[in-house]
Amino acid sequence: MTSYKIALLPGDGIGPEIIAEGRKVIDAASECFGFGVDWVPYDNGAEKYLATGELITEDTLKEIKDSCKAIYLGALGDPRCRPGILEKGILLKTRFYFDQFVNLRPIKLLEGASCPLKGKGPKDIDFTVIRENTEDFYVGIGNRAGIGNSKQELEVVRSMYKVKFGLDIETDGSEIAYQIGVMSRKGAQRVIRYGFELAKKEGVDKAHFVDKANVLSDIYGFWRETVDEVSKEYPQITPEYMFVDAITMWFVKNPEWFKVVITPNMFGDIITDLGAMIQGGLGLAPGGNINPDGVSMFEPIHGSAPKYKGQNVANPLATIWAGAMMMKEIGQEKTHGAIVSAIETIIKEGKVRTKDMGGRNSCSQMGDAVASRVRELAS
Ligand code: IPM
Ligand code: MN
Repeated sequence: MTSYKIALLPGDGIGPEIIAEGRKVIDAASECFGFGVDWVPYDNGAEKYLATGELITEDTLKEIKDSCKAIYLGALGDPRCRPGILEKGILLKTRFYFDQFVNLRPIKLLEGASCPLKGKGPKDIDFTVIRENTEDFYVGIGNRAGIGNSKQELEVVRSMYKVKFGLDIETDGSEIAYQIGVMSRKGAQRVIRYGFELAKKEGVDKAHFVDKANVLSDIYGFWRETVDEVSKEYPQITPEYMFVDAITMWFVKNPEWFKVVITPNMFGDIITDLGAMIQGGLGLAPGGNINPDGVSMFEPIHGSAPKYKGQNVANPLATIWAGAMMMKEIGQEKTHGAIVSAIETIIKEGKVRTKDMGGRNSCSQMGDAVASRVRELAS
C-alpha cells in the first residue's frame, strides 16, 4: 500500500481545530481509497515562539524536506506577537525555503454557497488564480534612512539566484522608508509557464495576466515582456493583460470572463481575498503553495481568527478543501474528487452549516459530515 508522510502544522488560533477536521477527512478517504497517511506533527507557532523564541529552524525545514511528501498547515498569527513575526518567520520562510513558487487558489462558487454578487451563480464563478509566491514586494528587503548619509546592504537569496543591493543613501529634509520589489526573468517565466500549462490543460483559449505596468513599469513592464515571450510557446492561448485595479472591478462585474488568472505576488494576495468573497466567503477558500518538483504546502487562505480560538465554531471547509488539493498534488486524484463533491453536496443540502454559513453546527460536526459523505461516495 502506498503511504505518505505528511508534515502537519496546526499553527495558531483556530488552526488546530480546523486542521483536526482536515486530517479526519483525509484519514477517512485514505481508508476508502487504499492508501496510508503518516502524519508528522510540528508545533511551530505562537506558543513555541513565546516560550522559546523559535519560529522555524533550518533543521526543522530540512527534516521536512528529507522525510515528507507535503505540508498541511492550519493558520498562523497571534495577537500576543508583533504583527508579521509569525507570518514572515514561519509561513513566508517555509514558502521560500521550499521554493513553492506557485500559489494556486481556485475561485469556485460551489452550488448552494451564498454569493454576494447579484445574478451570478456557480457557472459564472469558476476560475483559478495562479499567484507567484516567492518574489515581488514579498522578498522582504527595505529599510529606513534618517536625514543625512547612510550605506545599506540588502540581499535576496533564492535557489535560482542571489542578488545583493549596496545602497548609498543621501536624504535631506525627511527620514524615508523604502521597500524593494524584485522579479527575476527565471522566476517570472516559470510561473507564467505554469499558468499557460494550466490554461492548455483546461482547454481555454485565453489567460489573464495581472500587472500595474502603467505606473510600476520597471518591475511589471518586465513581467509583461516575459508574458509576451513565454506566450510564443502557446500559440493557441491569447494572453490578456489587465491592470490590478481594473481586475478587481471585473471580478465583481463579470467574473464569468475568467478561467485562468496569473499574477505577481502582492496583487495576487489582494485579488484572492476578493476572489474568496465571491466564492462564498473566506470560510470556503483554499490554497496550495506549490513546488511541482518539491514539497508543497496546503492551507486555507484565511487567517488564524484568534477571537474564535478553542470554541469549535470555525468553518473547516477551506482547510478540508485545501487537504483535497494536497491529495491531488501527491497523485490521489480520486480522493480530491470525492472530498470536493462531499463539500459541495453538504453545502447544497444546507443541513450542516457553521456560524459563518448562517448555521449552528460546530467545526467538528462539519468535519464529521464531510468525512461520512466521503465514505458514502467511495462505497
Ligand atoms: C495569504 C496571507 C499571507 C500573504 C500573509 C499571512 C503573510 O495573507 O496567504 O494570502 O500575504 O501571503
Ligand atoms: Mn492574503
